Amino acid sequence: MANRPVTTGLVPTDSWHDQDAAAAWDMVSEDSPARAEQLAMLLAVLAAAHVTDVLEAGVGSGRVAERILDEMPGSRLLGLDGSRAMLDLARSRLERFGERAELREADLSDLALPDSGPFDAVVSVQALHHLEDARKAKCLAELARRLRPGGLLLLRDKVAVDPGVFPDHAVVGRLLGTSMPSTLEAYEAELVAKGDRPAPLELHLRWLRRAGLEPTVLDATGHYVLFAARRSG
Ligand SMILES: C[S@@+](CC[C@H](N)C(=O)[O-])C[C@H]1O[C@@H](n2cnc3c(N)ncnc32)[C@H](O)[C@@H]1O
Repeated sequence: MANRPVTTGLVPTDSWHDQDAAAAWDMVSEDSPARAEQLAMLLAVLAAAHVTDVLEAGVGSGRVAERILDEMPGSRLLGLDGSRAMLDLARSRLERFGERAELREADLSDLALPDSGPFDAVVSVQALHHLEDARKAKCLAELARRLRPGGLLLLRDKVAVDPGVFPDHAVVGRLLGTSMPSTLEAYEAELVAKGDRPAPLELHLRWLRRAGLEPTVLDATGHYVLFAARRSG
């Protein structure tokens, strides 16, 4: 495999409310080949499921939402995010879809959506790893509750790297061109700087099962994992 161009992706993501940080994320988000590949998978799975009503948790600047709405002309999407700066970018990006796109400010760590759903699909990309673990579990349970029976949850997120195998991950990270410093100390410092709190892959599977879903791993590329989970029909 050829080495890919390296993207640092180092945006201080605890500052989502800052317009410059939001704009910086919006730019770097498109630089990662690993993200591009997993988003292509996510979109293909979503399209094959013939979904209409989609909830996106952590819609950010609307890049994933835009692709869903473009590639699935019959779909409608409700996008949630806690950052007004990100939502402003999303609003401009999604304006052309009119009533098919709705955006709401919401804190994923304390999700309450009494008047929303049910949805055919819930999507979340690189958002939940910013929450503390107990909040991740609660958020996944809340999202699962909003799925119709038979509905599909697609989660693409950063998972924790076991310190014992960090050097091996670093090799793969470099091949993939993802943000992966060469020492464990630098990696852990980067997590803190970015406000990232990735949890182990196994915990995600446990949380999804506990939320009443049947989960699987569709793809794992370095420390980025694409999960699919179905609510029983
Ligand atoms: C890395 S960006 C990803 C955005 C989008 N999903 C994408 O992939 O392009 C993470 C997003 O999660 C949002 N976020 C982080 N913590 C949040 C929270 N507790 N509640 C709501 N949104 C949150 C941020 O505002 C940001 O828009």
